[in-house]
Amino acid sequence: MAGLGVNIDHVATIRQARRTVEPDPVWAAVEAELGGADCITFHLRKDRRHISDRDARLLKQTVRGKLNMEMSLDEEIVAIARDLRPDQATLVPESREEITTEGGLDCLANADRLRAVTKALHEQNIVVSAFVDPEPSQISAARDAGCDAVELHTGNYANATGDDVGPAWEAVAEGMEVGFENGLIVHAGHGLTYENIQPIASILGFEEFNIGHSIVSRAVFVGMREAVREMKRLIDRAVLFSE
Ligand code: PXP
Repeated sequence: MAGLGVNIDHVATIRQARRTVEPDPVWAAVEAELGGADCITFHLRKDRRHISDRDARLLKQTVRGKLNMEMSLDEEIVAIARDLRPDQATLVPESREEITTEGGLDCLANADRLRAVTKALHEQNIVVSAFVDPEPSQISAARDAGCDAVELHTGNYANATGDDVGPAWEAVAEGMEVGFENGLIVHAGHGLTYENIQPIASILGFEEFNIGHSIVSRAVFVGMREAVREMKRLIDRAVLFSE
């Protein structure tokens, strides 16, 4: 059954809006796990705009399931990841101007650095996943660099409307196949919501969906535990009816 990774960065974003101590993303992670999250995902950015070093340390100590650290290929961040040893690292591009991660990592243009970072993380027994656009050449480049997994960027699918939804879904489904053919674990994420998750979850084979904004948004009204429970239910049902 595909797992749910809950991205808690947005809780830290609210905290940082006031530079105070609440809401605490570490607390959010506990609540998410109590709601059934299989994985907690956080992004330690170079500029520390939301998640802090303190959060990363405490998450490592308190998360009971899988801990997934989103990170760039930056040297300082790689050193922190090697020290922290999350279960998994998801390698993403990062730029200061973006509101959130925009495109996938260019595994072709960054092949040498990606290979070196993957090796450095493997030395610490960290599973390495590359966040890529659902393009065959990017998926095989991630494999060639030694990555264990890819997370397929579902942003195009999430943003598509009308006749564009079908082809965007097809690209994700094909990405899943290509990942499998390359012997990779395949995850998906970005822009997934309560409304658009089920067609993606019905593509069998995904190991994990990483979802942040939609879950945190719903948590404002129903609480984190319930928000996670509802998303889990949608994923489980979609998987069950496709098998
Ligand atoms: N996966 C990756 C690699 C991301 O960068 C993000 C955003 O931080 C997500 C998943 C979650 O995206 P969203 O917040 O749109 O659910």
